[in-house]
Amino acid sequence: VKKVTTNTLLKMKAAGEKISMITAYDYSFARIFDAAGIDVILVGDSASNVMAGHETTVPITLDQMIYHAQCVVRGIDRCLVVVDLPFGAYQSNSDIALASAIRMMKETGGHSIKLEGGEEVADSIRRIVNAGIPVMGHLGLTPQSIYKFGTYTVRAKEEAEAEKLKRDALALQEAGCFAIVLEKIPAQLAKVVSESLHIPTIGIGAGHFCDGQVLVMHDMLGINNEFNPRFLRKYLNLHEQITQAVQQYVKDVRSVDFPNDQEQY
Ligand code: KIV
Ligand code: NA
Repeated sequence: VKKVTTNTLLKMKAAGEKISMITAYDYSFARIFDAAGIDVILVGDSASNVMAGHETTVPITLDQMIYHAQCVVRGIDRCLVVVDLPFGAYQSNSDIALASAIRMMKETGGHSIKLEGGEEVADSIRRIVNAGIPVMGHLGLTPQSIYKFGTYTVRAKEEAEAEKLKRDALALQEAGCFAIVLEKIPAQLAKVVSESLHIPTIGIGAGHFCDGQVLVMHDMLGINNEFNPRFLRKYLNLHEQITQAVQQYVKDVRSVDFPNDQEQY
């Protein structure tokens, strides 16, 4: 199998080929997504929400992210695996950031890490990249800073924030990032940023001018029926399908329809 590398993604951008990315947190789903032809699997700290049931991504720990990454990597033959460094694993200083990135690579077999922020994390990114670890950036709505923003609404609609985002994107490219996630920003801003960079942008709620797209697996598979932002396309309604399947199972057990004569020894 031809493996997807950070270099593959740079070539895809240069060739105008769009990059597909999806989150995964365990072996079984990672294996399905890898075989289905996804380019990049993100072990997102959205695990804090969709796997652990926390309200934000703030509580998930480095050890917990390492566990999810180990599970995902066992399911991969071909995809590039990116693992989020969680809140607290890199913000303090670049020594801590580098140590967290090294732990992630050494203990999981993941291929790269992602962290949130612009110029303020550029020095840490430079050191991590210099250590041989590919880094993906993340700008716009950065959920680890949710208590600073106060809301999950669209970012960088105002001129000042848009200008900062453009500077941040260039700073991340200059620091050595191989790609940047743009989350929940106006499509026209994402277009300008994407055209200003030679590294690919991967959008979520950032329009079709990005060089690729990412969705959280639970969102695009319709597992949570209470999350319906404008940017989300639901490819399945698993919440409904799973509910119906489990209700049927309960019914069959109670009525002794299951197991039947062919389903026993
Ligand atoms: O944690 C996550 O799922 C992410 C994506 C939304 C980009 O960072
Ligand atoms: Na994340």
